[in-house]
Amino acid sequence: MAEHDLLVILDFGAQYSMLIARRVREANVYCEILPYNTPAETLKSRNVKGIILSGGPNSVYDKDAPHPDPSIWQLGIPILGICYGMQIIAKELKGDVKKGHKHEYGKAELEIDDPENIFAGIPKKIKCWMSHGDSVSKLPQGFKIIGHTENTPAAAIGSEDQKIYGVQFHPEVVHTPQGSEIIKNFLYIVCGIKPTWTTEHYIETACRELKAKIGKEKILCALSGGVDSTTVAALVHKALGNQLTCMFIDQGFMRKDEAKKIKELCSRHFKIHIVYIDASERFFGKLKGIVDPEQKRKIIGTEFIRVFEEEAIKLGEIPYLAQGTLYPDVIESAVPSKVTTAHTIKTHHNVGGLPKDIKFKLIEPLRKLFKDEVRALGKDLGVPDDIIMRQPFPGPGLAIRIIGEVTPERVKILQEVDDIIGSEIKRAGFYKKLWQSFGVLLPIRTVGVMGDKRTYLNTIAVRAVTSVDAMTADWARLPYDLLETISNRIVNECPEVNRVVYDISSKPPSTIEWE
Ligand code: XMP
Repeated sequence: MAEHDLLVILDFGAQYSMLIARRVREANVYCEILPYNTPAETLKSRNVKGIILSGGPNSVYDKDAPHPDPSIWQLGIPILGICYGMQIIAKELKGDVKKGHKHEYGKAELEIDDPENIFAGIPKKIKCWMSHGDSVSKLPQGFKIIGHTENTPAAAIGSEDQKIYGVQFHPEVVHTPQGSEIIKNFLYIVCGIKPTWTTEHYIETACRELKAKIGKEKILCALSGGVDSTTVAALVHKALGNQLTCMFIDQGFMRKDEAKKIKELCSRHFKIHIVYIDASERFFGKLKGIVDPEQKRKIIGTEFIRVFEEEAIKLGEIPYLAQGTLYPDVIESAVPSKVTTAHTIKTHHNVGGLPKDIKFKLIEPLRKLFKDEVRALGKDLGVPDDIIMRQPFPGPGLAIRIIGEVTPERVKILQEVDDIIGSEIKRAGFYKKLWQSFGVLLPIRTVGVMGDKRTYLNTIAVRAVTSVDAMTADWARLPYDLLETISNRIVNECPEVNRVVYDISSKPPSTIEWE
């Protein structure tokens, strides 16, 4: 099968590359991020129609400054260098780069000198975002300046004949409002790529590939109820119908009615064969007396795998397992970021995150997609809105929001509380604006008074945060009225609770979840 037109981003610094990839995908063009030193031969063997050299934290004068394979310049594939990528162009094609003593950082006004190619249809003067120390001081042969700012005479350069362009500013960030248009110009005009990377196209190709790969064999999918695993199930089901079996393991600490909803969604809505496993007793048994957060997480993760393996055997011969791995996970393992943290903050447990030596052959139909592309795909496949727009929910579920021992009684309290918080946040129109909003059941009781009587009951902490990637987060400034409604409803409707507090810590130094 012919490979889709491909735009390759050579990665000189992970954070920039990911943003560029987002912009390219938004322009309906398929792209992949590859390491900066990917051999030209590899690029030649794929259907590469354009290359973007990303920005990065280095100076071309650094001792181990990263360089691309020198043969990429001869491939005849159009190239756009961004920031460091542009300096690499100048340096390698025998222009020059001047070492900067001052760093130019922030907004600047770009004046366009050549309103063609990457600047076609762009106003003469635009705002752009600069962040660089060095700048291009001598142009390579055949290049001309196509844009300048007050401080940077060569803010954009290009060679129409060689189809190589460089911009010193960052078109991928929102602070360059016309940035997306400039990237589109490079893709459509310079590279001649057509914007054909759409969800319909993706569904069609993925179904064809799944059919070819799986044939008449059976395939299993571990459902969590989140957008990724549900979308995988819907996609595989569309391609392979009843060759798919979904397994849902109820650990006992899902949200209120969640297990019931998932069962209904699969069996009624999608007519997918679902095996529901109530493993709650087993999980509660293992967690008896356990209060240490890491121990809890490890027990839940290990037990999940055990249950999964035992139950999968009962289903007979199923060679394949479908998983909801996304593109950012793929990049993380393929292009390791230079900075790695040595400490384990939390041991993550992901439903479907099974060990590598598992006997199944893994199928990952979402491994090319970003989260918002998965949402669009899920929507087209008929996954209901409340799953598509769902806030992230951790694999260990409510168990890591119950500080102290996890018991069925305590889960029940938190399920009610969580339901109230969720519905009030939605009613007030905050659900989609927040990264997460939830309740935490604390291991302390406090004194209260209800009617004329003294009470000695549980305390709930409400946590609501804004974030873009969960790496950092800020506590949400929710309106007092909303907090009041949430608090009132919790103490009135949950007889086990007499106090509600609001968590006003950001991440770092706190984390989003309490355990
Ligand atoms: P923290 O608490 O580390 O959480 O700030 C960052 C994000 O990760 C989610 N989270 C998990 N997700 N399995 C998951 O699938 C886990 O074990 C897990 N632990 C935390 C958390 O909800 C937040 O969005």
